[in-house]
Amino acid sequence: MTPSPVWHPFTQHGLGEDIPLIARGQGAVLHGADGRQWIDAISSWWVTTHGHAHPRIMAAIREQSEKLDQIIFAGWTHEPAETLARGLIAITPEPLTRVFFSDSGSTAVEVALKMALGYWHNRKADRQKIIVMEHSYHGDTIGAMSVGARGVFNKPYAPLLFDVTSIPFPATGAEQATLDALEVACRDQAAAFIVEPLVLGAGGMLMYSAKVLAEMAAICARHGVLFIADEVMTGWGRTGTMLACEQAGVIPDILCLSKGLTGGSVPLAVTLAREEIFMAHWSEDRADCFFHSSSYTANPIACAAAKANLQIWADEPVQHRIDTLAALQSAELQAIARHPLVASTRQCGTIAAFDLVAEAGGYLSNWAVHLAGFGKANGVLIRPLGNTVYVMPPYCTTPEQLRAVYAVVREGMEIAGR
Ligand SMILES: Cc1ncc(COP(=O)(O)O)c(C=O)c1O
Repeated sequence: MTPSPVWHPFTQHGLGEDIPLIARGQGAVLHGADGRQWIDAISSWWVTTHGHAHPRIMAAIREQSEKLDQIIFAGWTHEPAETLARGLIAITPEPLTRVFFSDSGSTAVEVALKMALGYWHNRKADRQKIIVMEHSYHGDTIGAMSVGARGVFNKPYAPLLFDVTSIPFPATGAEQATLDALEVACRDQAAAFIVEPLVLGAGGMLMYSAKVLAEMAAICARHGVLFIADEVMTGWGRTGTMLACEQAGVIPDILCLSKGLTGGSVPLAVTLAREEIFMAHWSEDRADCFFHSSSYTANPIACAAAKANLQIWADEPVQHRIDTLAALQSAELQAIARHPLVASTRQCGTIAAFDLVAEAGGYLSNWAVHLAGFGKANGVLIRPLGNTVYVMPPYCTTPEQLRAVYAVVREGMEIAGR
């Protein structure tokens, strides 16, 4: 066979890694075309919540595809989008009254940033600065990269990125420095603060307290700075509650959701906003409208999948599955914490993470690649972030499957550490 022409994301093709051909996914398991199987320990990049190919979501997709596949969403609408938007408004905090559709986490963030700037622009206020948190990740489009941490991932594109004000990550014991920096940044007529609530995902599964989250939101509110919660990763139960913000009693001005919105089945995203933000764009002047769209905005099939996801949350014991998985994660984490190569074990809901200690040897600088490869060769999909290992499986993962994941992690780690 000729080599594949496919150019994979975040993949160094020069390393010649094995790229399995997946034929089928069921629950927490991925089935290769060659008969191999993998337990999906990272929910296929944090998207799969209830498990792969949930029958109710698959049925909704099939059914909708027989009725309406796609329709322009500027000035037209359809039932799946209308029902979904109402459903989202019903399960999110009351002040969030408007739903804007897009198709990925990155675009949900772009929309949030544009809504914030549009709000201030239409109110004739000179507020343009965006405040961000150190180590954040909000996606790979230009605006999303601009508000994320700068580093190797976006160095070549630096000329395209806009300036932001960055505040330090609230590491345990250093929380006050974060709050003080936010206070100072807010005083400077900032437009908005964007943050990943409770867990900074791609930044290394860095976790901070609900108390700090609540205090940050309060500072923004005092200064009239819009609070944008990027719950693209943390939403849909990952942190133990439907939204991470709930744990801090925080009601954002703008909320970004994607990934688990369709149960992780097909691409869709939403940016929810308070009524004032919508109303700042409401006028008889067409120049004040919200200038954003993409061809597939609110695709009916994706909306039908998301509607089915909401239904699953409404009538299946999803919270119980999340609590059970969180307890299993806690037990596995406690056991692995005793390992001499393991440091900084941490957990937030269904997300468990730890760092590999530096003394383990030079090879470990490359160990994320090693461990991902070891998992691939041994039936587990894992993808460490630098020296941070994390496990974030779908909620249907069984105790046996989770035990198998940690066994492979442990074995891979020990081989790397030798
Ligand atoms: C917090 C956060 N925001 C935004 C994104 C970007 O989402 P997408 O990859 O769907 O564009 C991600 C992706 O991992 C994320 O974790």
